[in-house]
Amino acid sequence: METRKISVGKHQIQLLDAGQGSTVLLVHGFPLDHSMWRFQVNELAEHYRVLCPDLPGYGSSSHVVESLSLADLADILAEMLTVLGVAGSVTYCGLSMGGYIGWQFVHRYPDRVSHLIACDTRAANDSETVSRARRVAAATVRQTGSSPVADAMILKLFCPHSISTRPEIVEQTHAVIAQTDPATIANGQLAMSDRPDATKWLEQINVPSLFVVGQEDEITPPSEMRQNAELIANAEFLEITDAGHMAPLENPAIFNREILEFLRRTTVVS
Ligand code: MLT
Repeated sequence: METRKISVGKHQIQLLDAGQGSTVLLVHGFPLDHSMWRFQVNELAEHYRVLCPDLPGYGSSSHVVESLSLADLADILAEMLTVLGVAGSVTYCGLSMGGYIGWQFVHRYPDRVSHLIACDTRAANDSETVSRARRVAAATVRQTGSSPVADAMILKLFCPHSISTRPEIVEQTHAVIAQTDPATIANGQLAMSDRPDATKWLEQINVPSLFVVGQEDEITPPSEMRQNAELIANAEFLEITDAGHMAPLENPAIFNREILEFLRRTTVVS
């Protein structure tokens, strides 16, 4: 799948841009890159224009020295759409940290969102304990580098079935994390620990919304996502079997079928 670099403000964003039609923006989780959507791109691109960026600092996008908040990242995504000439609204689909950025995006740019797909994410901010652990992790990664982060995270991202039957997705994800710049990981942890509670924004969301979560997600449990979905009028909630936190990678057949059907039944044809 071909990617290219585009300039967005002072950032060089690595972007996969495939297909034609209304736009679906896929935003990766932490500390990953656009390749986590590789099983979605071709199927979605048969019907839509699919934009899959590496967020600044991640993947092959330019290195970032300063700390970017999740609101900053939402602003950069909005600017990226402008640079690409995407007018009007898009389907915003984000996983975990990509979902946290999604709450910011829909709050700051409501007119830019036609559909919201929240994957394996949560609206609440961190407890003080989690926030403190993130600050410790941010300091530690600057000393140890990213490989120990990959070792520590990898088994939490996937369900046991994926770990035993799909070693290639586990290994590839491990490699992406291990190659991520420690400064980006540190900044990402600090940005997530500072994020606001987005629960209060949910009831203002008035676009078709789908919440998708791996049935065995231990990082963002299905019960919490279901409660988030209940705060948005007519939002749909779906658990994906044989999947943990990385549902789009772990069970792409069901994930793709469900999001394509969601987009079909909630799109008004003019
Ligand atoms: C992610 O997958 O983006 C992370 O698990 C988010 C987090 O650390 O809260």
